[in-house]
Amino acid sequence: MTKSSRVRVPIWFVFFAFSVFVSSFNAVSAESVLTLDHSNFTDAVAKHSFIVVEFYAPWYRVGTVRVLPPEYEKAASELVNNDPPIILAKVDANEEANKGIAGEFNVRGYPTLKIIRNGGKDVQDYKGPRDADGIVSHLKKQVGPASAEITSAEDASNLISGNKIYIVGVFPDFSGEEYQNFTDAAEKMRADYDFAHTKDSKFLPRGDAVNGPIVRLFKPFDELSVDFQDFHVDALVKFVEEASVPTVTVFNKDPNNHPFVIKFFNSPNAKAMLFLNFSDEAADAFKSKLQEVAESFKGKGISFLIGDLEASQGAFQYFGLKEEQVPLIVIQENDGGKYLKPNVAPDTIASWVKDYKDGKVNPYRKSEPIPEVNNEPVKVVVADTFQEFVNSGKNGMRTFHAYNSVITICNIILLEFYAPWCGHCQKLAPILEEVAISFQGDENVVIAKIDATANDIPSGVFDVKGYPTLYFKSADGNIVQYEGDRTKEDLIQFIQKSGKTEENKTEESKTDETLVKDEL
Ligand SMILES: *[C@@H]1O[C@H](CO)[C@@H](O)[C@H](O)[C@H]1NC(C)=O
Ligand SMILES: *[C@@H]1O[C@H](CO)[C@@H](O)[C@H](O)[C@H]1NC(C)=O
Ligand SMILES: *[C@@H]1O[C@H](CO)[C@@H](O)[C@H](O)[C@H]1NC(C)=O
Ligand SMILES: *[C@@H]1O[C@H](CO)[C@@H](O)[C@H](O)[C@H]1NC(C)=O
Repeated sequence: MTKSSRVRVPIWFVFFAFSVFVSSFNAVSAESVLTLDHSNFTDAVAKHSFIVVEFYAPWYRVGTVRVLPPEYEKAASELVNNDPPIILAKVDANEEANKGIAGEFNVRGYPTLKIIRNGGKDVQDYKGPRDADGIVSHLKKQVGPASAEITSAEDASNLISGNKIYIVGVFPDFSGEEYQNFTDAAEKMRADYDFAHTKDSKFLPRGDAVNGPIVRLFKPFDELSVDFQDFHVDALVKFVEEASVPTVTVFNKDPNNHPFVIKFFNSPNAKAMLFLNFSDEAADAFKSKLQEVAESFKGKGISFLIGDLEASQGAFQYFGLKEEQVPLIVIQENDGGKYLKPNVAPDTIASWVKDYKDGKVNPYRKSEPIPEVNNEPVKVVVADTFQEFVNSGKNGMRTFHAYNSVITICNIILLEFYAPWCGHCQKLAPILEEVAISFQGDENVVIAKIDATANDIPSGVFDVKGYPTLYFKSADGNIVQYEGDRTKEDLIQFIQKSGKTEENKTEESKTDETLVKDEL
């Protein structure tokens, strides 16, 4: 994967994977990790041709689950004695003065580990194990040659285990352009995959005699091994990326599967996810059917995943799914479009996916139920009432006011996107209520809120990255994010100032815009 590739792994999977990895911790204390900051980072990177840097934020170390340090320090204490020494360092990326370094290295979350080689020329994400022993063996391999030589069947069976991707080049000689290109490709991808080379294909698992040069990729799924013979470096990289994606990605609590789940989410394809209880009698029938369907849709822009209900709580919450809908398929497109088929049977998977592909399935929208009564000062909006609400006035109807024959749609809306667990939102709630009460006499001003975790927000206009987010729609239909202070006074003033009422609109003489509306 290149440094610039966009990561699309959804947050529910990040938390899930993290909880699995955290459950494998033991506490240790040691102090072999080098502390770096903006003043000495560059020197340290220049001095060590191979250095691993953990970018962390201290607030992730308290209370929450992000507890890498003990394992990292234990690994560091072992690795300083390696020959050549392997240096493990850390940078507090939350420190204002260090933010430049974190930015330069593309750090987007904490903790992030980077392997930095050759004075900063080569940078790769650390993607190895998170426990001390795992870190040690992974990094030892990272400083050695990118590809290990296999000289016996025993070597091969030690290296090529049943649950990983392994790429082996078979060459008559370890020289020549093909060998060189293989080595270059291995160097490029070494942080993500394991490579080996051999002169004898018979050493390899399920080994038949082939004459090199040839590249054989072993994988723990589908056809188990694939051969490739184009030795252009780019072609090799592409082959490895493509051949290492399972036809159907399995999502359960087994951490061995998680790298494939990450690949699945990073794919540019639409993502079809079948969720069911893996302990269910029918699970095998679903698995083989989905495999069949996935094969028939290969190369058609859809990636497939099968997920165990037990591991999927986060996903269910994210999509607003319910257990009684299982087995279900949800398809998510990269632009946010979602499609749902609840209570699917093995035999209906293929036809439903085909209907989806043919544009015959209506999008699915996560929504809370429409409230039966909505008479608090702050109105409740849900996904199913969103469009209507934003386009309408207080009473759920589009209101028109005519003054001197000018017709204006004059409702002014302040809408809060909130999350139930968000402290700032809870603090804002009574303030919004007071604001709403102060405008209760003005039927054109509506203060409303929507639980953005339980309702899909139409993309495009509303950019909700944190909670609370406040949007304001003025009388002339402009929608802007409210960036001011979240105090009663500021909010009221803002609404009065930017939300011109129809009286002022007419007084200010008719603008072109109102004239256009007039004509419509
Ligand atoms: C880098 O500087 C910080 C503070 O300026 C210091 O705490 C740290 O020990 C230094 N690291 C090295 C490797 O010199
Ligand atoms: C090796 O890779 C380079 C760069 O991709 C390419 O130009 C060359 O043709 C390759 N050699 C072989 C034998 O494929
Ligand atoms: C899955 O099914 C098994 C066996 O029927 C049951 O014991 C288990 O509770 C189910 N798991 C979930 C998450 O519903
Ligand atoms: C109209 O604008 C004037 C000043 O431009 C302001 O004093 C007045 O309060 C506004 N009227 C309303 C109803 O907002």
